[in-house]
Amino acid sequence: MLDLLQLSGKQRQFVDLLQQQQTVTSLRSLCAQTGFDVNFINGFLRSGALDGYVQWQEHSQQRWVLTAKGEDLGGLLPGVALADRLLAGIRDRATLQADLGPAFSLNYGALRREQAVDLVDGDGEGAVAVLKSSVLSAYQQRQGVFKAIACGEVPAAGAASSLEWLQQQGYITSRVESDYSLTVLPALQALELGNVITALGSELILSGQWREVELKPYDIHAEVPDVAYGRPTILTQCIQRIRDIFLNMGFNEMSGYLVESAFWNFDALFTPQDHPAREVQDTFYLAHPQTLPLPEDPTLVAQVKQVHEANYGGQWTEAEASRAILRAHTTTSTARRLHQLQGKDGKYFSIDRVFRNETVDRTHLAEFHQIEGVVVGELLSVRTLMGYLTYFYERLGFKNLKFKPTYNPYTEPSLEVFAYHPPSDRYLEVGNSGLFRQEMLAPLGGGEKSTVAWGLGLERIAMLLYDVEKLSDLIGPDIRL
Ligand code: PHE
Repeated sequence: MLDLLQLSGKQRQFVDLLQQQQTVTSLRSLCAQTGFDVNFINGFLRSGALDGYVQWQEHSQQRWVLTAKGEDLGGLLPGVALADRLLAGIRDRATLQADLGPAFSLNYGALRREQAVDLVDGDGEGAVAVLKSSVLSAYQQRQGVFKAIACGEVPAAGAASSLEWLQQQGYITSRVESDYSLTVLPALQALELGNVITALGSELILSGQWREVELKPYDIHAEVPDVAYGRPTILTQCIQRIRDIFLNMGFNEMSGYLVESAFWNFDALFTPQDHPAREVQDTFYLAHPQTLPLPEDPTLVAQVKQVHEANYGGQWTEAEASRAILRAHTTTSTARRLHQLQGKDGKYFSIDRVFRNETVDRTHLAEFHQIEGVVVGELLSVRTLMGYLTYFYERLGFKNLKFKPTYNPYTEPSLEVFAYHPPSDRYLEVGNSGLFRQEMLAPLGGGEKSTVAWGLGLERIAMLLYDVEKLSDLIGPDIRL
């Protein structure tokens, strides 16, 4: 049984069309005349939906189509416009020229080539004489055949000489194509198509008409276009990629807090309480809460105080260490982890957000991400550190690294990391690193071990990998990247 409700709008239209036919000798020409897509109808027939309603048979047939040269003619053979007029009895050259305009010479040339016409002198411009009127009528026939082919129709029988001529001129060419003949069976003629609604609109609902019409059910299994409606941002993709690299290197991921006490951000990292980085120009201090409790471990706080006062002089105050801030680096997580480890070996990383009170420009924003890493073990050296960093950057495609000595309160030696960027033929700063000092490690409980660590810029890497000019392009709502 043909389930009319399951038919699409197009399929129903085709059924409707078939109801007006008995037999169709060429499905192709039927489609050409009515605007249906042959392949679509072919699929409809082959689906079996019309079995018992329509019989169809495939046959291959030679079909004529226009060549590119034929297409260029725009539907009119050169010569036919003049032939029409000559056959209508117009011979005066001035009249013909005015009528045909610039096309006159093209038309005349075409007919002249077959010696069908000639120019004769007369009053004024003279006249066009007809030498062979049979050629002129042949032109009219050729035009009819040409037009039919252009419209996708099958030329009428008896067109053989026109076809041969059109082919010789290079206007048409033949192609073997499969076509279908259909016989419409009485069962189809008997079908009542009725009025099926495929889209329920507000009008139908408001007027209450929806109660009377037949509604096409939704096919929830129908294939729908694959729409890419969401995907991770470049930064998220980068984070995932980097996370995979460190996990594959045997590191564990650590996490921390966006809001931290100055203690974990500075004091535990042996950064003096009068260090310029602690000033409001560099660090965001919070109004709510203004302070955070210091660590519960009293020896930790006492030892930090002791090492600061012994090395930097002056008074170390809990008040300064308790101030609440947005963390300025992820080394806060490292410090907390070292305190937890109490000298146990381990490899940890984090990829997390940090905040600095910076002037915003093309390459700086007030918040960004750091790739933090720390390795605790025996006899780790600068070579160990350089080895980890070289290996990591190589995984991302940065082959040439340079290390430059720098200063951090908590590391000694300290190395800045530069990666070669071929497009700009420059080394760009990508991170900072070093071996933690005893003054920092001892109060945290890791004084016996050697510890290498780094903090690398995520956005820098993303900008280089994806060739992004402005840092703000990486994090805005614009998803075109
Ligand atoms: N915390 C440093 C920064 O923000 C990076 C760093 C981490 C340096 C660990 C040395 C050791 O630049």
